[in-house]
Amino acid sequence: MGSAAQGRRVSHCGKPRLPLIDHSLVTLRHLELSDAPAWYAYLADPVVVEHTSWDLRSIDDLQSNFDDYASTQPSSPMRLAVVLRDGGQLVGTIGLNAISPQHRTAEIAYDLSPAVWGQGVATAIVNAVVDWGFQRLGLLRIQATVLESNARSIRVLERCAFEREGYLRCYRQIRGKSGNFWLYARIAGVP
Ligand SMILES: CC(C)(COP(=O)(O)OP(=O)(O)OC[C@H]1O[C@@H](n2cnc3c(N)ncnc32)[C@H](O)[C@@H]1OP(=O)(O)O)[C@@H](O)C(=O)NCCC(=O)NCCS
Repeated sequence: MGSAAQGRRVSHCGKPRLPLIDHSLVTLRHLELSDAPAWYAYLADPVVVEHTSWDLRSIDDLQSNFDDYASTQPSSPMRLAVVLRDGGQLVGTIGLNAISPQHRTAEIAYDLSPAVWGQGVATAIVNAVVDWGFQRLGLLRIQATVLESNARSIRVLERCAFEREGYLRCYRQIRGKSGNFWLYARIAGVP
């Protein structure tokens, strides 16, 4: 049985050790409820959510996400804050959803403020969280589902060596309209 099935590995102070980021601009820390306003500030931008299934009407709609992140169950979703090394401002989030300790699988999700787009931040954090998921959590498969129109995210996944596995028709509702998604995955030990 792998470590994902035994719960998330924790450091001596009781929190999972965090992925190390190979990027001069940002680092990661645990996401906290007090981050909600900074997170919502860019998620309220239609440009940011255009190619995602986010459907937020107010900051209060984020509350259920924070309730899920606060759970200590090994299968509950986890989310990290992407913060500027200089000043600590939150400029993104990244996490794992649909974590299955039994099957040692999870689905990666991420978003960045447009203020830091185009500088390789997403590529750095996705690579770091994938490596961490394999090495620290013992996952064997990390998948991503991406709306077919989300060219930026598709480029990130392909730069991070995710392989396209399939086409998911009518997979999710995108603010009232059905959306087709690509399924991507990386497998532990496969470069
Ligand atoms: C998806 C998203 C995270 C991608 O952000 P991004 O800025 O395009 O991706 P990166 O941070 O990896 O930056 C890559 C770009 O920076 C450039 N770049 C500059 N320095 C770089 C470096 N050191 N390393 C890698 N790329 C670098 C690359 O050439 C690339 O440009 P290109 O895409 O025009 O070729 C962002 O568009 C976003 O938050 N979108 C809204 C939410 C969303 O769609 N989430 C994903 C749902 S599946």
